[in-house]
Amino acid sequence: MSDVLNRIEELRATALQQVQAAADTAALEELRVRHLGRKAELPNLLRGVADLPPDQRGAVGKAANQARQAVEALIDERTSALAAGELDARLAADAVDLTLPGTPPRPVGRLHLLTQTRREIEDVFLGLGFRVAEGPEVEWVHYNFDALNHAPAHPARGRSDTFYVRPTDGTAPPEHGSPDEIVLRTHTSPMQVRSMEAQGPPIAIIVPGRVYRRDSDATHTPQFHQVEGLWVDEDITLADLKGVLLAFARAIFGPDRDVRLRPHFFPFTEPSVEVDVSCFQCAGSGELRGTKPPQRCNLCKGTGWLEILGSGMVDPDVLGYVREFGYGDGAQGFAFGMGIERIAMLKHGVPDLRLYYDNDLRFLEQFG
Ligand code: PHE
Repeated sequence: MSDVLNRIEELRATALQQVQAAADTAALEELRVRHLGRKAELPNLLRGVADLPPDQRGAVGKAANQARQAVEALIDERTSALAAGELDARLAADAVDLTLPGTPPRPVGRLHLLTQTRREIEDVFLGLGFRVAEGPEVEWVHYNFDALNHAPAHPARGRSDTFYVRPTDGTAPPEHGSPDEIVLRTHTSPMQVRSMEAQGPPIAIIVPGRVYRRDSDATHTPQFHQVEGLWVDEDITLADLKGVLLAFARAIFGPDRDVRLRPHFFPFTEPSVEVDVSCFQCAGSGELRGTKPPQRCNLCKGTGWLEILGSGMVDPDVLGYVREFGYGDGAQGFAFGMGIERIAMLKHGVPDLRLYYDNDLRFLEQFG
């Protein structure tokens, strides 16, 4: 019997010593299995107590039980001591400062300069009571040219100036010169007639959108953007046109700007004007301030004026196409059309139109 008790003491001493030396909770778990698990010697001794001669059961049972409890208690104690330290270490190692910027910092996106400019223009006219309308980029010759009073031989109708679209379903294209021919719209003006067909007077709309022309150089791209304006009622005059465009010019180019109207020609307005804004770089003087001898302003080329758009009073011939939609003899108003690229170019000093479309971030990131 003392053999068994000795063995128990041996097991207990080994176990306690190993538990004491364990470096982390994982090692303690392993020792728990090794010394107290189902296949371990000490628990087996305990289970075997019932098979011992009755006079030995008490002493062996007691010794084995105490040994097991002592080992268990020390494992528990060491586990809680080590676990606390391990948690602290893990918290320290895993610490993430969410207020630090990422590495590398995430770039913040922005709207393209043309989108910014379009929205700026829209905001100005929305504030003046205009509504934003949009129209198709693939357009009938009827709306793009005929209803806008273009003579049959007008050069803009030529295939060297305008993209014509053919049916892809095998049907024969409409005969050349027919209003049923299809083009990529060359301006946003087709929306003048379309929107008057859709709504009687009074009408005050602007129409931003893409337009297409067969052109490609530093100042022309085959696709660009315009904003059309149209205000028709019974008593809208050239004075209203000038007032609206003055408000627009000041909102975009600064409160001190002035505008001037120069006679021009468009087939669909009469009279037609080109509109200039006083140069914001030289305040309209044509000379760069503080230069001696005075240096010519490079933006307006010394003229003091920058051309920003074409406009005029809607031609009675155009209104004739929408007579039946409520635009009778009393209806009158103005229309204008501007290039978004040009407005942004003037405002931000963009030297080459193609920069807008190169998607070079070094250019794009300068705006916004
Ligand atoms: N559609 C003309 C252009 O593209 C501009 C314009 C619009 C002129 C409306 C007069 C009135 O050049």
